[in-house]
Amino acid sequence: MRHLDDAPRGHLGLGALLLVGLSALSCAPPAPAPSPARDVLPSWQDRSLSPDQRAERLLAELTREEKLTLLTGYFGIQKPTNDYRFPEARPQSAGLVRGLPRVGFPPQWQTDAGSGVATQGEAPPELERTLLPSGLATAATWNPELAEQAGAMIGSEARASGFNVMLAGGVNLMRDPGNGRNFEYGGEDPLLAGTMVGALVRGVQSNQIVSTIKHFALNDQETGRNSVDIVIDEGAARLSDLLAFQLALEQGDPGSVMCAYNLVNGEYSCQNDWLLNQVLKRDWGFPGYVMTDWGAQHDTVLNANHGLDQETGVQRQGQYQFLDKLSAAVDRGQVPDERLDDMVRRVARTLIAKGAVDAPGQPGPIDFAAHARISQADAEEGIVLLKNERDVLPLGGKRIAVIGGHADVGVLTGGGSAQVYAPGGNAVPGLEPANWPGPPVYAKSSPLLALRAELPEAYVSWTDGSDPVRAARAAAQADAAVVFVTQWTAEARDVLLTLPEDQDRLVAAVARAQRRTVVVLETGGPVLMPWADSVPGIVAAWYPGSQGGPAIARVLSGAVNPSGHLPVSFPRAIEQLPRPIIVGLGLPRGERFQVRYDEGAAVGYRWYERQGFDPLFPFGHGLSYTRFAHQSLAARLEDGELRVRFEVRNTGARGGKVVSQVYVAPVAGGWEAPRRLGAFAKVELAPGAQTQLDLRVDPRLLAVWDGERGGFRVAPGEYQVTIAQAAVEGEQSVKLTLPERLLPAGAGGS
Ligand code: BGC
Repeated sequence: MRHLDDAPRGHLGLGALLLVGLSALSCAPPAPAPSPARDVLPSWQDRSLSPDQRAERLLAELTREEKLTLLTGYFGIQKPTNDYRFPEARPQSAGLVRGLPRVGFPPQWQTDAGSGVATQGEAPPELERTLLPSGLATAATWNPELAEQAGAMIGSEARASGFNVMLAGGVNLMRDPGNGRNFEYGGEDPLLAGTMVGALVRGVQSNQIVSTIKHFALNDQETGRNSVDIVIDEGAARLSDLLAFQLALEQGDPGSVMCAYNLVNGEYSCQNDWLLNQVLKRDWGFPGYVMTDWGAQHDTVLNANHGLDQETGVQRQGQYQFLDKLSAAVDRGQVPDERLDDMVRRVARTLIAKGAVDAPGQPGPIDFAAHARISQADAEEGIVLLKNERDVLPLGGKRIAVIGGHADVGVLTGGGSAQVYAPGGNAVPGLEPANWPGPPVYAKSSPLLALRAELPEAYVSWTDGSDPVRAARAAAQADAAVVFVTQWTAEARDVLLTLPEDQDRLVAAVARAQRRTVVVLETGGPVLMPWADSVPGIVAAWYPGSQGGPAIARVLSGAVNPSGHLPVSFPRAIEQLPRPIIVGLGLPRGERFQVRYDEGAAVGYRWYERQGFDPLFPFGHGLSYTRFAHQSLAARLEDGELRVRFEVRNTGARGGKVVSQVYVAPVAGGWEAPRRLGAFAKVELAPGAQTQLDLRVDPRLLAVWDGERGGFRVAPGEYQVTIAQAAVEGEQSVKLTLPERLLPAGAGGS
């Protein structure tokens, strides 16, 4: 079966559209609709009742057809030829679930995604909205308050754009740096990713809309995403990808979960009883609803019985499961009546509980200036100073040569369904691929112009980088050079880690001509840097969002002291990776194949440490223009939980923000890797200032999975606690003995 994501979006044949339209009209059995008295509110709308009571009453009023309506979502793109086009769908949006006017239940207007209100590929004009830095950039801030503010901002734009469901909260772990969607996610560590994405979701939902965490689960590569079967041991999954979801669900309380395209251990995610019924709903007690990724539904009876609640993104005849086939399956007794009601109850209760029903989103004004400040703050804290030798940064000197990466006009953004068009539109139109998941879009925010504004005394020249010889000449004539390199990544396609378009040659040429060369990376995730030893400065700016220009310029000039830390490890060479090249590249589309996650829960830095590999830049790494020192580390047990206290001091001459990282390790070993991140905190300190921090380590981060008991188990024994500023270093360690502790699979950890 072909899936939506495999085709250019919005290009359906008329025949298919007609079929879809007919199907939509013909699916429902005729059911007489009781009409409530005009001036009496239907009882479910009584706001003094609890969401559960209201959902129950609503359910009692609905016909079979109305129930099915709440369970069926359509792809939101509208074209004049679109036969199933509903006038209430928001133009160029991800999706629509029709409302029930008879009982006053609103439509569900769905928009992507985690960096702002996205525009689906179709004819212009695109909706222009504030673009946050990529999810990975936000994770690099290690600042959950900032992520929450960022989420609140994009959620408010979703609301002001008439949406009440935001498909925001990507928390798939980075297992393969070449995954084209890494930019949408929160990195390689379950604690960091779960905390940061949970905070973003919390912010989104503060706008009385539903946020959808995704893609559940183990959708960690795009290659063959509809046919890849991820094979992983349950314990390894519970301690890695699933733990990231679990933490994000606890901290963000998203109303819905989107099940993924891929299979897990032999079964499609959206009909995977283990994932949906056992892990998500039983063990974690998830009260919300599960929606499909767009077109990820396969078998009606399995979908319904194994935990799917809503099909979304329906575009073609043959894709309808619930609308066309669920009713018959219920009548035949293949799906219990109660299960149908449970699906409806979950959808309705969640929308009521999150406020999306009583305060429906209405198109309204947006304060773009205020939102730009939030996006910029996020970008400034997410930029990671990877290397700074000979004090090449902050930039000094009178003549600075800026080279490459379209830095004269904008900053790169990530493509696919998460594509947001920042105010001003695309600064570099006409790039390939022209069709979805393209075109590559540059947000109109020029680092070059921002640098000129930041450094008014300096002469800042511009060279486009297409000719390494010319670029080297410009660099030689300056006191320092800044080379911008880019790699566009997008949904539905993975990448190799080598920078495209010979940019490595450009950097090497500039580095030979100018010893004070700084490279700024605008990439979706890690890339290889064969020239890393030959330049004194490297800055990871990710996709920095609609204010990327000034954010980068302020870090380079020193107006902002960098405080981002890596949420992912950067390999030195692909041979260091568990899978040097993504499995399945080049296989015929649709052919089922397996990817075995034999590294288990040893993801990212855990893998490197276990293998004894020295990455180019480790997880947690990030330099500052000042220095911080930790001391007085002490660990103790309090109410059965590990708590860690320490002091941190700014020992340099500038104010800045430190990210204190607590790593934990069983002295006797026995984990998937030597150690794990157990806790972290970010604090701002004036020069010479010091503070004391006291952090709790979630017991699940000290545990292994006990398959027999179906829960987490902290083994009794001695543990080492280390305070560090990156996964490979440690400033101080202490040891402590922990008693055995058993925790249920759904332990909230507190
Ligand atoms: C993506 C989802 C997205 C949906 C709607 C799918 O192709 O995988 O992340 O929310 O489209 O646009």
